[in-house]
Amino acid sequence: MWVVFWALLLFFIIITSFFATLTTSASPALHADELHALGEIATTLGIKRLNLSDGDPCFLETLKLGGVVSNVVNMPFNNIVCDCSFNNNMTCHITEIFLKSTSLPGKLPPELAKLRYLQKIDLCRNYLSGSIPMEWASMPHLTFISLCANNLSGPLPPGLQNFKNLTFLGVEANQFSGHIPDEFGNLTSLTGLELASNQFTGSLPSSLARLVNLEIFRISDNNFSGIIPEYIGNWSRLQRLDLQASGLKGPIPDAVARLENLTNLIISDMTGINSFPNISSQVIQNLILRNVNMSGPIPSYIWSKPVLRSLDLSFNKLTGVLGINLVPKLTYLTGNMLSGEIKSGVYLNSKSNIDLSYNNFSWPSSCQERSNINTYRSSYLNNT
Ligand SMILES: *[C@@H]1O[C@H](CO)[C@@H](O)[C@H](O)[C@H]1NC(C)=O
Ligand SMILES: *[C@@H]1O[C@H](CO)[C@@H](O)[C@H](O)[C@H]1NC(C)=O
Ligand SMILES: *[C@@H]1O[C@H](CO)[C@@H](O)[C@H](O)[C@H]1NC(C)=O
Ligand SMILES: *[C@@H]1O[C@H](CO)[C@@H](O)[C@H](O)[C@H]1NC(C)=O
Ligand SMILES: *[C@@H]1O[C@H](CO)[C@@H](O)[C@H](O)[C@H]1NC(C)=O
Ligand SMILES: *[C@@H]1O[C@H](CO)[C@@H](O)[C@H](O)[C@H]1NC(C)=O
Ligand SMILES: *[C@@H]1O[C@H](CO)[C@@H](O)[C@H](O)[C@H]1NC(C)=O
Ligand SMILES: *[C@@H]1O[C@H](CO)[C@@H](O)[C@H](O)[C@H]1NC(C)=O
Ligand SMILES: *[C@@H]1O[C@H](CO)[C@@H](O)[C@H](O)[C@H]1NC(C)=O
Ligand SMILES: *[C@@H]1O[C@H](CO)[C@@H](O)[C@H](O)[C@H]1NC(C)=O
Repeated sequence: MWVVFWALLLFFIIITSFFATLTTSASPALHADELHALGEIATTLGIKRLNLSDGDPCFLETLKLGGVVSNVVNMPFNNIVCDCSFNNNMTCHITEIFLKSTSLPGKLPPELAKLRYLQKIDLCRNYLSGSIPMEWASMPHLTFISLCANNLSGPLPPGLQNFKNLTFLGVEANQFSGHIPDEFGNLTSLTGLELASNQFTGSLPSSLARLVNLEIFRISDNNFSGIIPEYIGNWSRLQRLDLQASGLKGPIPDAVARLENLTNLIISDMTGINSFPNISSQVIQNLILRNVNMSGPIPSYIWSKPVLRSLDLSFNKLTGVLGINLVPKLTYLTGNMLSGEIKSGVYLNSKSNIDLSYNNFSWPSSCQERSNINTYRSSYLNNT
């Protein structure tokens, strides 16, 4: 009798402890502090209620954002990513937050600083306003910050200088203003710096010379002053340089034109370039030098760039004849003073779209209009 009782008791203890281990080892969970912080973050972002009763946020396929309708169909963006390797695979910490295109109406949350393992944040395309919170300066482990297309304002805080591992900073299409802090020269891990379409002023600080890992640098549509810095020519990995209506003036330093890995050189609405730069890159795909006061001929080397797809030289004062057989897929020569006879079988048979309008070409009378060629007012001789 007693033997049976003890045997049953022992059996019961073994079974319960077995299930206890089973359930705990099977369910790592988000750290309680971070679960709490996530609620605060949601409130600051303007998410009316974040339904955390759906399950652990680390294991949801996508966050259920109560009252917020995502405006992109089928979007994998709204999510958080956790690292659950802490405490013998029992505790998770949030490492990435993506809340894109979600019409969030609030502010940037200072409470993000409570997520001590956070590395990436992407809050692009919302309606967030206000400035970058001071508290963010205490997150130097961040590697990726993307805040594009919101209504954010104020200066870029110099406190970001401690972000030694920051590889990407994108604040395009906001209302940020002020100078680029000298301290940004300390962000030497940056591979992408995107500041376009804001109201930045002042010249680019000389400390940026240290950002030699940059592959993408976009500052179009701002109100910077000064000239294109020489040191950009030392960013040997640079692939994309966007300087459209940036406020900067030319010339293009020789060292910049010599960058070997440039795929996109995009410059417009600038003075002081005056003559065609000698571009070395054999991987150039898009070359825009529009409305930059260039005069003289188009150098013939440009027609033999092997992967050039798009060439925009419109609204300059270029002269001379086009000695070419092949033009890039998209070619804009609009608004120059180019001359000479347009030869059928040369540009005309090409599959390219070419805009020759507002130039000084002459046309053989046999020439037919083609839909891939804009010839409107391309000739002063035969101006129909
Ligand atoms: C949260 O989600 C669960 C499961 O989807 C649902 O049953 C519950 O009503 C939701 N709570 C709120 C407050 O929306
Ligand atoms: C945690 O999980 C990983 C992968 O599932 C495993 O390789 C590792 O051994 C686990 N660590 C501990 C302490 O259980
Ligand atoms: C940067 O990354 C390295 C290597 O992963 C790490 O040791 C270091 O602590 C990180 N620095 C910061 C400020 O997070
Ligand atoms: C943008 O933010 C400013 C305050 O910084 C506010 O006055 C303005 O109404 C906001 N605009 C929109 C469209 O939300
Ligand atoms: C950061 O940059 C500033 C200004 O360029 C410089 O004086 C300072 O020494 C730098 N700090 C670090 C930690 O590199
Ligand atoms: C751009 O900055 C200059 C001073 O450098 C100022 O005179 C001008 O008004 C600014 N333009 C705009 C559109 O803010
Ligand atoms: C470019 O780098 C070289 C070698 O590091 C340096 O001597 C030179 O001063 C740099 N040029 C500019 C304009 O910063
Ligand atoms: C230029 O690009 C090539 C091919 O992607 C790469 O191997 C090389 O390291 C790059 N050069 C520099 C200076 O980054
Ligand atoms: C534009 O180029 C002409 C030469 O064609 C030059 O005389 C003039 O100074 C340039 N304008 C500016 C603003 O650089
Ligand atoms: C352009 O640069 C190449 C080397 O990249 C050089 O061989 C050529 O002479 C230069 N042309 C002019 C007109 O400076």
